[in-house]
Amino acid sequence: MGSVVVVGATRGLGRELAQFYADQARDVVITGRDAAGAEACAAEIGGATRGIALDLAEPQTIAERLGDVGDVEFLVLAAIERDTNAVKDYDIAAAMRLVTLKVVGYTEVVHALLPRMGDDSAVLIFGGLARDRPYPGSTTVTTVNGAVTGLVRTLVIELAPRRVNALHPAIVGDSPQWRDMPAERLQALVARTPIGRLVTMAEVVDASRFLLENRAMNGLNLPVDGGWLCM
Ligand SMILES: NC(=O)c1ccc[n+]([C@@H]2O[C@H](COP(=O)([O-])OP(=O)(O)OC[C@H]3O[C@@H](n4cnc5c(N)ncnc54)[C@H](OP(=O)(O)O)[C@@H]3O)[C@@H](O)[C@H]2O)c1
Repeated sequence: MGSVVVVGATRGLGRELAQFYADQARDVVITGRDAAGAEACAAEIGGATRGIALDLAEPQTIAERLGDVGDVEFLVLAAIERDTNAVKDYDIAAAMRLVTLKVVGYTEVVHALLPRMGDDSAVLIFGGLARDRPYPGSTTVTTVNGAVTGLVRTLVIELAPRRVNALHPAIVGDSPQWRDMPAERLQALVARTPIGRLVTMAEVVDASRFLLENRAMNGLNLPVDGGWLCM
């Protein structure tokens, strides 16, 4: 059985998913930008977890960084560097970094690992609900999460019979990025979520497992949003 590779797993949703598979005694490889940080996080996760450094915003370096990763069963692309941007006050450098990271970097990871991915393997890409519901400052985030949908479509064809899916979470209330948000903002978000609370990291892990492990799931862009899109 190949390993579980989670790109962007030194914290947040990627880390939570890596922890789940490490607890199942799977071989897990996690990445962050800094080697010492990735190795320290891998040690905290435990089991056979290994940490390696790569920067998705420098796509030419990715293949070498992944050089000693063996066979891969599940590949999860979860890394993000958030860019607050608006077309009326456009920060080109920040936009280029996020676009490179999430569009070119994610694709290059797939390219680099493809020879090590068997027919039963699966790819899971993290997008986000900003794809469908822009917010002030989400210009680049909304754009790249839209690109994730296109990436899934082309990879399903190119990688067949391997499977490729994406998750598009709403704001995950207990994730490190959002758990300390001001109460007023939290209340406004909850008011727009039909389940009456924000989705959780555990629920995102559960949805990730469904897309990775259920062999009928292919080409899906799954919102994990507590019904937000119905509002
Ligand atoms: N949290 C949410 O509520 C939410 C909602 C919707 C969508 N999402 C999506 O879910 C995914 C995970 O989000 P998160 O909030 O859990 O992330 P996070 O806590 O901010 O963690 C981001 C991860 O990406 C890594 N990373 C950052 N820049 C990188 C780069 N240039 N190259 C390689 N790795 C890099 C970080 O590692 P180092 O810092 O160690 O380098 C870290 O492990 C993202 O794709 C995000 O868009 C999250």
